[in-house]
Amino acid sequence: MRPSLSLAAALLAAPLVNAAQSFAGSNLYYAAGLTDDQSTTLFQGLQGAGVKVLRVWLDGQSGKTKGTEIDSFPSLESDNPGNWDDTVLTRYDDLMVKANGYGIKLQISIHSYNALTADPPDIYGQWYGKGDFYTSEDAMGYFKNRIAHVLEHVNPNTNKTWAESSEYIFAFEAENEAMHDQENPDALTNWQCIMAGAIKDSLNGNTDILVTTGGGAWLDNSLLDAYFTCDSLDILAIHAYGTGDFATDKIQPYVTKAQSNNKKLIMQEWGACYWDSENNSCGKSSPLDEGTRESNIKTWADQISAAGVPWFYWQILPNEDTHSDWDYEVGIDGTAWGALESAVNGTAGYEAAFDFSSYLL
Ligand SMILES: *[C@@H]1O[C@H](CO)[C@@H](O)[C@H](O)[C@H]1NC(C)=O
Ligand SMILES: *[C@@H]1O[C@H](CO)[C@@H](O)[C@H](O)[C@H]1NC(C)=O
Ligand SMILES: *[C@@H]1O[C@H](CO)[C@@H](O)[C@H](O)[C@H]1NC(C)=O
Repeated sequence: MRPSLSLAAALLAAPLVNAAQSFAGSNLYYAAGLTDDQSTTLFQGLQGAGVKVLRVWLDGQSGKTKGTEIDSFPSLESDNPGNWDDTVLTRYDDLMVKANGYGIKLQISIHSYNALTADPPDIYGQWYGKGDFYTSEDAMGYFKNRIAHVLEHVNPNTNKTWAESSEYIFAFEAENEAMHDQENPDALTNWQCIMAGAIKDSLNGNTDILVTTGGGAWLDNSLLDAYFTCDSLDILAIHAYGTGDFATDKIQPYVTKAQSNNKKLIMQEWGACYWDSENNSCGKSSPLDEGTRESNIKTWADQISAAGVPWFYWQILPNEDTHSDWDYEVGIDGTAWGALESAVNGTAGYEAAFDFSSYLL
């Protein structure tokens, strides 16, 4: 997004006035599997805390996940790329309208790197693995078709395509944690910009929905140099879990770099581990005492907000987490929920370095 001339003029006239408030979002990658009761619990809790955006994924999911007994749904594509099962899209047709009633928009991640390496992998993982997926012309062609299919999907509740649904959708991203291990950064940055361009093409001039990356594995590899000069990217998303990456002065130089390149930043994934683990890496061990975890949530949320970067928590669940593996999750009304609720509420007291106000409900 380039600031409009009048906004630029206003900023020049009053350089110290920037009323953009920060805000918080959350993640729930399998939200398409929630029952009506579960999503009501989730949205009531999110709205009570003041969460503005819920980031969701389109990959198939089944069984009990993080203690949530979900209504399974298949992959958008199976057997062959382009062989569509729109169940996940129709689930979100309803969920996005429901979310709107709670003052919340969805952010749609069109695919996840995790699906390439899942057991079994999805069709892209089966055909291309996690390397050729980013370089094969055929794979890229199929993936552009996937982007077009998602954005031209019509929501029967409104008769609008998703590309036209800015009152329900905050942003689109091509892929969660694209090329997570980053064996080939040049291929990755090229792919990100091509796919961001494909999203922009499908948005067909609608600038009320943002285009974002889906983050990397930590701060530095979420913000590769080439992203800052890719015209089609509006937001560069950070994923960070190591405690050093939450330091205000570690994030700040990227804020300055983003501002001078007309990009916005969001800490799209971060969390405070339930377990007592080195550097918040979250291997299963003994639980951290509750007070320490609560103070981690508050401290790290405040540090990120103080850098001027809005953040999305990984993840807020409609149920208490079962603590069966690594977990950063907090359940509505569960352990540490009060601390997270107050951290979310606290974001409004921080000035953001990027003005998202016109994109939020
Ligand atoms: C959508 O279009 C169908 C078919 O034209 C029509 O029956 C329905 O009332 C429309 N729904 C909305 C929400 O406009
Ligand atoms: C903690 O994690 C961050 C980010 O993942 C990493 O850069 C840093 O080296 C780690 N620090 C330690 C002490 O392991
Ligand atoms: C949210 O913060 C405001 C002040 O910014 C405060 O008045 C309100 O009580 C807080 N709400 C909760 C639920 O913490």
